[in-house]
Amino acid sequence: MELVSRMMDGSISYDPKARLEPVSSGAPVKQGDKVERLKDVRMFEECSQRQLRSIARIARVCDAPAGTMLTRADEPGDEFFLILDGSASVDVATEKRGPLRPGAFFGEMSLLDGGPRSATIVAETPVRLLVISRRNFSMLLKEVPGLTQSLLVTLSRRVRQAEESAERMGGASAGL
Ligand code: CMP
Repeated sequence: MELVSRMMDGSISYDPKARLEPVSSGAPVKQGDKVERLKDVRMFEECSQRQLRSIARIARVCDAPAGTMLTRADEPGDEFFLILDGSASVDVATEKRGPLRPGAFFGEMSLLDGGPRSATIVAETPVRLLVISRRNFSMLLKEVPGLTQSLLVTLSRRVRQAEESAERMGGASAGL
């Protein structure tokens, strides 16, 4: 409910058709600069220089102001996001998860299974994101096989968290 009222009062912006703005009002981030940034991302730490260059080629860097809704639960999604700067909150069902910080990624689930977004994610601060489209995401997984491992580890953690919160909620309602 809190989310809906924040959308109504305008403190969270969401336009499902809007694309995030590329960084620096049209001035493209130089490939070399992107590669330098990617070197600092834990998910890419095993990548060779050649792999980093491929990632830099297929990824856009976008900025979004605080309050932007980056994914909306139950809506289709076509992009994978990795946070370069800033933080974002995750709303899953009735729970709010700890913030996602630089190095964290989201949006992989809809790309992997084609289903709708499983959670609503809102920028808590101004964020700088690496954005990868569905088509390029498949290319990325082929190009950097080690990434599949990182995705699986994170997905397993998210499943465990979901089970724990389902148990907590079950326990809470049984106690009513
Ligand atoms: P997707 O379903 O495509 O869009 C919403 C994203 O939220 C989802 O992919 C995951 O990346 C992320 N997400 C889902 N559940 C959790 C969770 N429990 N903790 C952190 N992130 C999550």
